[in-house]
Amino acid sequence: MNELSNDLPANPLAGTFAERLIAWQAEHGRHDLPWQNTRDAYRIWLSEIMLQQTQVATVIPYYARFLERFPDVAALANAPQDDVMALWSGLGYYSRARNLHRCAQVVLAEHGGRFPADPETLATLPGIGRSTAAAIAAFAYDAHAAILDGNVKRVLARVFGIEGFPGTPKIEREMWALAESLLPGSDLPAYTQGMMDLGATLCARGKPRCGECPFDSDCVAHATGRERILPTSKPKKVQPERYVDVLVICSGEHMLFERRPDSGIWGGLWSLPELTPPTGEREVDDASLRERLTAHAAALGATQGTVQSLVPLQGLTHVFTHFRLHLRPWLVALSGASAQRAFAARSSDSHHAWLDSAGIDAAGLPSPIRKIADALRVVSPGDGQLCLPA
Ligand code: ADE
Repeated sequence: MNELSNDLPANPLAGTFAERLIAWQAEHGRHDLPWQNTRDAYRIWLSEIMLQQTQVATVIPYYARFLERFPDVAALANAPQDDVMALWSGLGYYSRARNLHRCAQVVLAEHGGRFPADPETLATLPGIGRSTAAAIAAFAYDAHAAILDGNVKRVLARVFGIEGFPGTPKIEREMWALAESLLPGSDLPAYTQGMMDLGATLCARGKPRCGECPFDSDCVAHATGRERILPTSKPKKVQPERYVDVLVICSGEHMLFERRPDSGIWGGLWSLPELTPPTGEREVDDASLRERLTAHAAALGATQGTVQSLVPLQGLTHVFTHFRLHLRPWLVALSGASAQRAFAARSSDSHHAWLDSAGIDAAGLPSPIRKIADALRVVSPGDGQLCLPA
């Protein structure tokens, strides 16, 4: 048994945990799942692989079809991979099916067609991690080995009040040590099934049924009202902030749009010409910013002298999954009709388009860009003009 490596206070519950779990499993646990009531390691292994990340109800028909077609490890090992994949089709996570097939071949070729009994050797086989190895070894061979899947982590975090995201190596190490320290001396299959049943039924993520739980009165999370807080969620990363200045260049009834590259955010959509601050931070030096914006607007199609003024418009923030984008639109006023025409002529290439109101409606625009464009459109019905604020 491993030493507990953390600072958890000794929990008086630890001494009776296994006994209470086994008694609860006998009375309230699941006993008639298709992979129970067998000691056949092949059948147990097959069920454990199928049950990784997949609900019991989904697995049941697949499990039956697999056993009918591949009744033993040799039948599976000798089958064409296409047949295995076809029968797995719909269960998802297809690397599981490829590993399943390879594992059957290794068991046949290197272990005489018999799944090894010790969890360390099982865990060297394709697709079998430490927890799955322990489940197979406990169910098939009564091995003294602890499981630790997502459900078990939730049970341990709550009952023993373990703080910290269980996905971090430190917390996971603590949990493995705790899980091993709790194992009973016998009845490993009932104990292992009890852990799975408690995590899947009463100690559910959303609405735990603490009133029915064998650990109700001793559960740290329940006693301190933290059933919904434990286990600790994955820490949210601080979202990076990105800043961009966009140019709203209007010419008569038209607004100038720029096509985004195919890859990256808003790939292939029509956006407004943009400039990213050189430091990545919001540029605050008004004079140098205006100089850059003016030069960029001019470089888009006009000569330097045609950009008469830059008026800042209402900014907006768009939240992406990995960052927040702060958009600052600038209305570019051109100096005269001829300058506008020159501008328009030079800027219409395959990456730029002058769109009128109908064109804006029809084009694929990112939603914040559409908001900026809409704010400048005349609201009177049927007009279709762009309105330049004074
Ligand atoms: N999830 C993973 N293994 C399981 C099993 N043996 N029974 C029910 N659910 C499970």
